[in-house]
Amino acid sequence: MLKSNERVERIISNMTVEEKAAQMQQVSDTCGKNTIPDKGTIGSYLFTKEENKEKYIGLAKETRHGIQPIFGIDAIHGHACLKGATVFPTQLSLACSFDEELTEEVGAVTAREVRADGHHWVFSPVLCMARDLRWGRVGETFGEDTELVSRLGAAIIRGYQRDGLVAACAKHYIGYGEATGGRDAYDTQITERRAREVLLPAFRAAVNAGCMSVMTAYGSIDATPLTTSHRWMTEILKEELGFDGFVVTDWTNVEFLVNGQHVAENLEEATEMAINAGNDMSMQVEGFYDALVSAVRNGRVSEERLDDAVRRILLVKEKLGLIDENICVPERSVIGCEEHKMLNHRAALESQVLLKNDGALPLRGVEKIAVIGPNADDIKAQYGDWTYFTHPENNPDATPKDDSVTVLSGIRESFAGEVIYAKGVNVTPAENDDELILKALDAARNADVVIAVIGDDTSYNGEWKDRANPTVPGRQAELLKRLSELGKKIITVVVSGRALVLSEVKNYSSAIIQSFSSGDLGGKALAELIFGKENFSARLPISIPTDAACAPTYYNQYDYWHTRGGYIDAKKMIDYPFGFGLSYSDFVYSDVTTDKRCVKIGDKFTLSVDVKNDSDRDGTDVLQLYYRDTVCKILRPVRSLIDFKRVSIKAGESVRVDFTVDSIKLGYLDESCKYRVDAGEIKLFVSGDGTSFKEAIINLTE
Ligand code: GLC
Repeated sequence: MLKSNERVERIISNMTVEEKAAQMQQVSDTCGKNTIPDKGTIGSYLFTKEENKEKYIGLAKETRHGIQPIFGIDAIHGHACLKGATVFPTQLSLACSFDEELTEEVGAVTAREVRADGHHWVFSPVLCMARDLRWGRVGETFGEDTELVSRLGAAIIRGYQRDGLVAACAKHYIGYGEATGGRDAYDTQITERRAREVLLPAFRAAVNAGCMSVMTAYGSIDATPLTTSHRWMTEILKEELGFDGFVVTDWTNVEFLVNGQHVAENLEEATEMAINAGNDMSMQVEGFYDALVSAVRNGRVSEERLDDAVRRILLVKEKLGLIDENICVPERSVIGCEEHKMLNHRAALESQVLLKNDGALPLRGVEKIAVIGPNADDIKAQYGDWTYFTHPENNPDATPKDDSVTVLSGIRESFAGEVIYAKGVNVTPAENDDELILKALDAARNADVVIAVIGDDTSYNGEWKDRANPTVPGRQAELLKRLSELGKKIITVVVSGRALVLSEVKNYSSAIIQSFSSGDLGGKALAELIFGKENFSARLPISIPTDAACAPTYYNQYDYWHTRGGYIDAKKMIDYPFGFGLSYSDFVYSDVTTDKRCVKIGDKFTLSVDVKNDSDRDGTDVLQLYYRDTVCKILRPVRSLIDFKRVSIKAGESVRVDFTVDSIKLGYLDESCKYRVDAGEIKLFVSGDGTSFKEAIINLTE
């Protein structure tokens, strides 16, 4: 039974069925109709317009219980839908930092700006995993690995909720990113086992971090819509994981049951199925309120279930001061303030991944740089999705914030010599491409070096933007080829919302930097890294394949297939693996030991490794610890990440790094999906780049 309190229970006991049903309706303020008779009783709005906030709050105060609506918004990389607020790197970009403390602070800053702007609830973090590069929303995830997604997801939730200003929302529960063919909002073919092994840990971590809400995924597991799955929404999420917040469906999920997934005859049946499965609030379905009142009146939704849903919603509202005004709200002056910009600068620096460097970087000893490419001076491409350019309405012609820094601006700020700019080509092929390419070749001819800034834009990444073959769009690779024929060194910066296949691009580049949507200050950070003022430290949170047709390409797969890694027409499947990233420092690993050779199941042990910075540059390494259960009745991946840490080491110095491992983490789900840890050999792998590993072995004993 949910832990409640006397005030909430008193309110519930005095509410009518209509008032309860109203609390469970969320309406989009940008396009939804409000079908509730007493407008003041509505539970929630999303994307609430500035001019409506006070009106809705005033209407609520005039009602019997004075319960305010909770205003939700997609503030998913800062409060980015509000022009003027801090636009942080997206989750995929932030994940490159492998930095929990940074991620938590990004959450805390976002919460301050969101609440200062009068909203109470962020539809973030995305805990889906990026295991199929064809899926449009890869850029919204923390990448392909369970441990990384779980740790960063819990960190940003702690940040969001730390000051009690906003509720976080772990989404999309569950398996949204596993859709067959990477098709957005489509059915998955994953089993309960796979979902439990790979996806559920992140939601468990979110629940344990106190996340106040969860959003239901559009899709289905094994042909059962999540929206109607009592097993997943109630038995597993609320009973097994102990989730005590409330569940909101995703956009019109209840309606999809009728007109998309065809599991319900009509809206009343769909509403009954969704609420009885364990959803507590419906997002943007006109008529949901009437359907719910009718379903309760006809006994198809019990008053007990209704009260449970309302209880969950009211307990969250009470924490946020929405039942009576009892919390201190930040001033609007915090929005986009200098302190927040400094954090954003750090986030942008820690998010840029150096994938290739034949010595071209750090860039020195040049007088004239040609900056060429469609993403060199395009803040929209640098931002990615879910910003004031794209939501709540598509607004491509909005004037950029004056404190955002594109790559071209950043280079001009950091380089005293001459900078020549040419767009080079369009991301989406256009008639003037030939002309643009010729101008770019002219610009490059007179330069000492070329910085090519290519990638994609929000036409190619985001919701509804699945791609069969996520390569660099248009004629950008051709541009690079033509530039390389001039014999100039090319430093390629890939500014993209999602992971793109770079197998052609890499052939023309002396150096490659992967810059996933890096926010306001991405261009500033890139310039500081390119000229060596700062050092790279980021690592890939997602594997970049030679061809998306090799999917699935995440790193932690089973060992054996006949050809053991490699198609006849794709012998090398991965160009840059999970965990990979270069630096100006050179880290050397030695003397890997464990404090115990035999570890009793349930005990902890420590693995230690010497790390030397064998260079003249201070640097930060991202040490990764993987393990493999070498023999197990259930297939186990060739390796799985169980810990990671950022370690800063001065030039020429060594440190000894300890990982303390709880042997309980080294288990698996048996045939009946029950978690267990068996005695036997465990291999451990330490790495700084996801490609080379130092090994150690322990034996687990009963
Ligand atoms: C969208 C997305 C979800 C978002 C919601 C509200 O369709 O699937 O992630 O939070 O609707 O905008």
